[in-house]
Amino acid sequence: MKNPNLAIVGVTGMVGRTFLKVLEERNFPFNRLYLFASSKSAGEMIPLKGKDYRVEELTEHSFDRDIDIALFSAGGSISKTYAPIAAEHGVIVIDNSSAWRMDDTVPLIVPEVNPQDLKNHKGIIANPNCSTIQAVVPLKPLHDAYTIKRIIYSTYQAVSGSGIKGVKELEEGLKGNDLNLAYPHPIAGNCLPHIDVFLDNGYTKEEIKMINETIKIMGDSQLKITATTVRVPVKDCHSESINVEFEKPFKLEDVKELLKNAPGIILQDDFENNIYPLARSVAGCNEVYVGRLRRDFSVENGLNMWVVADNIRKGAATNAVQIAELLL
Ligand SMILES: NC(=O)c1ccc[n+]([C@@H]2O[C@H](COP(=O)([O-])OP(=O)(O)OC[C@H]3O[C@@H](n4cnc5c(N)ncnc54)[C@H](OP(=O)(O)O)[C@@H]3O)[C@@H](O)[C@H]2O)c1
Repeated sequence: MKNPNLAIVGVTGMVGRTFLKVLEERNFPFNRLYLFASSKSAGEMIPLKGKDYRVEELTEHSFDRDIDIALFSAGGSISKTYAPIAAEHGVIVIDNSSAWRMDDTVPLIVPEVNPQDLKNHKGIIANPNCSTIQAVVPLKPLHDAYTIKRIIYSTYQAVSGSGIKGVKELEEGLKGNDLNLAYPHPIAGNCLPHIDVFLDNGYTKEEIKMINETIKIMGDSQLKITATTVRVPVKDCHSESINVEFEKPFKLEDVKELLKNAPGIILQDDFENNIYPLARSVAGCNEVYVGRLRRDFSVENGLNMWVVADNIRKGAATNAVQIAELLL
């Protein structure tokens, strides 16, 4: 598989279009490229590396062709139906939806954290939730060094996480025109403590995804985690306050050094000069930005940090392309 034949399912969406950018930027090698979306987009021409590709309607015959790797980002129900069809045809699916993430037979991969799990795949590989990916990248080296006991996630998530309709909702809302397309309440001028649907226990599905996916990726069922996920009127990049309690004592300087040298992380931690990660400057970047590192004095071995990443890139397209690179 030096030059695989690639397919992108959901190519006209926020994540799908970013797949194309990331493949081009990283000079990902491929031979043929097939683009799929709904019937609405069939016939649209999309350029990549100086060539125009025609978007086709996704059908159950789409994978009859010689496709090696398919990057899926067309929502959970499409993945549920079509990923097994693709896998039966020998295609390796890298799926961005939540459809397969908690399936025991499907590896859930963040290349900086658990690349070793990739070898267990049976045709479908899951890309984690955007808010989970950016959290586990800094948590993994800290867990290896100091053993995490408990994590408290509080997120501030961008509207691009809801796809094209989320961005439209914010843009129109800022003009005073609430469309009620993407959220149960206006997003302009609001913070909505409500991402995905509510479950019987009062948590949202996004919160439970963060908890369960962190445990699966870190491979540690002993981790105690809670989460509050909030949609904020920001176009791109999720920001997260992460509070961690460790088993072992740590020195703040050592934590900074560890994170500075860990893969996929850029440390921006200089409060005296007002330097910390910001959504507007991280938009378009592939790395996870970490700052505001400080001791949590309320427990014995506690740490607070602020973590920002581009949800469409590291939270989706970049992570999926990195998985494809690992496969090669
Ligand atoms: N946005 C994020 O931050 C993010 C991060 C991680 C994961 N994800 C996941 O990635 C997936 C896509 O998200 P997105 O934000 O890119 O959504 P989006 O902008 O709404 O795009 C949805 C894509 O799915 C396609 N699609 C819809 N119905 C289809 C059908 N019946 N057959 C084939 N294609 C169909 C659409 O094609 P048409 O244009 O033809 O309708 C479009 O290409 C979701 O599962 C989402 O949970 C998103």
